[in-house]
Amino acid sequence: MTDGNQRGILYGLGVGPGDPELLTVKALRVLERVPVVAYVASGGGPSLARSIVAGYLGGGQVEIALDVPIATDPGPARDAYGKSAAEIAGHLRDGRDVAVLCQGDPFFYGSFMYLFERLAGEHRVEVVPGVTSLTAAAALAGMPLASRQETLCVLPATLCEETLEARLAANDVAAVVKVGRHLSKVRRVLGRLGYAERARYVERAGMDGERVLALDDAGDGPAPYFSIVLVGVEAVER
Ligand SMILES: C[S@@+](CC[C@H](N)C(=O)[O-])C[C@H]1O[C@@H](n2cnc3c(N)ncnc32)[C@H](O)[C@@H]1O
Repeated sequence: MTDGNQRGILYGLGVGPGDPELLTVKALRVLERVPVVAYVASGGGPSLARSIVAGYLGGGQVEIALDVPIATDPGPARDAYGKSAAEIAGHLRDGRDVAVLCQGDPFFYGSFMYLFERLAGEHRVEVVPGVTSLTAAAALAGMPLASRQETLCVLPATLCEETLEARLAANDVAAVVKVGRHLSKVRRVLGRLGYAERARYVERAGMDGERVLALDDAGDGPAPYFSIVLVGVEAVER
């Protein structure tokens, strides 16, 4: 499967939040036909994205584990993405399609963006959207996200406390991702705004051990990496 120039296509393949049944039919079809599959596996550890689709991999594909360090200094990760992009580009130039497996959706806080910005100028790239953690968490919590004139704000918990508070105060509905070690800060801010009662903490949506808690029951953390806080609208008659 190559394009007119006999070059391969790079797919950013959203594989959903964790439940293999939340993979799209399109992602499955691409996965079944590409000769090369790549995924981030930091420090030689396991890849969550690969584990989600493990049951669908035929075994005949070349697999590339991209070793991207997790560190606050962005330098080593930048170098690792450069090296990974070069390795993927080699396959594309030889006419082989490559699917990069992305947990959730590739363009929703996904590391695929770092490969996309390095490769999209020279190669054909197709992004296959996936079910996001945001929508999976809302479904699990039974919390409709936004309707009519309501605005939904998505925030990383890594923002400073003042910015978090200002942005949460300015929106009807919000989702806070990357909660992890920032849970106590998120709880403080939501408490000050009087939003705690309409907030839910969702852990590991679509994965083993998934759970939903009232924010007050979530403790002060640190929370696991795969956790998200949803702030719903006040209960109103519709
Ligand atoms: C780097 S972002 C990746 C988001 C992913 N691309 C998506 O579409 O959902 C990681 C953050 O997403 C959230 N997240 C991802 N998967 C999750 C899940 N299954 N349950 C709860 N939160 C999740 C967490 O807040 C986590 O810290």
